[in-house]
Amino acid sequence: MSDTDILDRLGAHRLVPVVVLDDAAHADPLAKALVAGGLPVAEVTFRTAAAPDAIRAMSARGDVLVGAGTVLTVAQVDQAVAAGAQFVVSPGTSRAVVERCQEHGVLALPGAVTATEVMAALELGVATVKFFPAGSSGGAAAVAALAAPFGGVGFVPTGGIGPGNLAEYLALPSVRAVGGSWMVPKDLVNAGDLDGIRALTAAAVALTTTGS
Ligand code: 3PG
Repeated sequence: MSDTDILDRLGAHRLVPVVVLDDAAHADPLAKALVAGGLPVAEVTFRTAAAPDAIRAMSARGDVLVGAGTVLTVAQVDQAVAAGAQFVVSPGTSRAVVERCQEHGVLALPGAVTATEVMAALELGVATVKFFPAGSSGGAAAVAALAAPFGGVGFVPTGGIGPGNLAEYLALPSVRAVGGSWMVPKDLVNAGDLDGIRALTAAAVALTTTGS
């Protein structure tokens, strides 16, 4: 799938669950719960060693758009792509990481919260960036102000977002989607509370249609 196709799919769902898995065995049931909740998307972060196997398990299902998160190095890009990741998210903008994604033909979503960082991303051919950490970087007002000089640049705010402020971000025309971990809390994942995850996910999905 092309970068545009992936961005279109993320933009259609409007939400990117940020998943941290301690055990790759949780990946398949978690994906099932996300699908049941109406959100067949997952960003599996490289914050844990389980990430590549978890990405592999979710990708193998064929019904979930799976990306890698917290990708900090070129080696992690290679691992993510080998496991089947269709997009690669980083907290900041690294030329090496972005260029490796481009070599693989995989969408890179690097982080940017300043005009200088957005310009650095644009110079690398990236027109959609993760705005992270959104809450402590000024929230929706900061996204709106930053977007003003960059017509056409898309933002995926992540960090400190939840049901209470999701609509503020989604109301902005520059916001393609919003990322967050609130639908997939670690305690529910580790407890195997798939029904709880499904319910949180469904509630989040409902907010994207009624709350913005
Ligand atoms: C991320 O890795 O993108 C963020 O840590 C997710 O932020 P949240 O946990 O505040 O939703």
